[in-house]
Amino acid sequence: MGTQAAPATSEIAAVGVIGAGQMGSGIAQLAAAAGCGVFLVDSDPAALSRAVASISSSLGRLVSKGQLSQAACDDSVKRIKCVSDVQELRGVDLVIEAIVESEDIKKKLFVELDRIAKPSAILASNTSSISITRLASATGRPSQVIGMHFFNPPPIMKLVEIIRGADTSEEVFSQVKSFSERIGKTVICSQDYPGFIVNRILMPMINEAFWALYTGVATKEDIDTGMKLGTNHPMGPLQLADFIGLDVCLSVLRVLHNGLGDNKYSPCPLLVQYVDAGRLGKKRGLGVYSYGRSSSSVKPKSSL
Ligand code: NAI
Repeated sequence: MGTQAAPATSEIAAVGVIGAGQMGSGIAQLAAAAGCGVFLVDSDPAALSRAVASISSSLGRLVSKGQLSQAACDDSVKRIKCVSDVQELRGVDLVIEAIVESEDIKKKLFVELDRIAKPSAILASNTSSISITRLASATGRPSQVIGMHFFNPPPIMKLVEIIRGADTSEEVFSQVKSFSERIGKTVICSQDYPGFIVNRILMPMINEAFWALYTGVATKEDIDTGMKLGTNHPMGPLQLADFIGLDVCLSVLRVLHNGLGDNKYSPCPLLVQYVDAGRLGKKRGLGVYSYGRSSSSVKPKSSL
């Protein structure tokens, strides 16, 4: 229970990252590169192996561009300890959760973290849309629970959207803000309403792109080229959805739909069908576009 004061930023020396997928691996890399000891936790050993390979290759690219020394790269990799048990997080100052986007599964994890983490530890979630206030209510330390929303891929994207739950303390907010700046990010601050700032605006656009494709307005290529060249977006909305993960987009839209109660957020049936078919985007090799896999080789995901 949160009876002690949370640590000053300079004391955030040990970080736990839970979920070694697209986001967690990048967040672990950032924390390690900033000098923190990192425990990277995943229930799937294959995800941990993929994360180590992806962190090594991402840091290796910085070395080959002359932006990082080989020694600093090696030190960062050594600072990351991959584990399968959250019990290992009992001594960390900050936990950043980046597991599957499911409120029930995240809540269960926050209950467990509240039991395991030291009383002063801050518990952050990288959720794209789930209420921080509700996650915080599952714990006995709601003033120390906060949203820390990174963007994909975390080592490249400059933004962290910090979300204050109803009870997040001012002190915890400023510690997390300073930590985000220390790892090289620009911070924006959102109140805790569905989708926060960026996804509240982005996901309806992605959904609309799916409706345009579904109703035959245009081909996927023309929809994406239109938004790239017509509105100066670096990537079209359908390609961006593939990069984010179609399962993540669908669950964010469901949170917006349920939380704001407006049918304009109702997910397009084509998006739902792709997720049902296991076409989750780039991470599965197939989404709106193909990244080297055919639909027959993709298994549906059962967890969402
Ligand atoms: P992902 O599917 O690539 O990775 C999730 C990882 O969590 C998997 O390796 C899985 O084995 C692991 N996991 C699931 N349940 C677990 C548990 N109970 N304990 C330990 N490990 C567990 O997902 P991704 O894309 O990295 O997303 C993670 C979170 O980040 C989600 O909440 C998502 O909404 C959020 N997010 C995703 C963004 C994106 O562009 N993909 C952007 C910003 C936030």
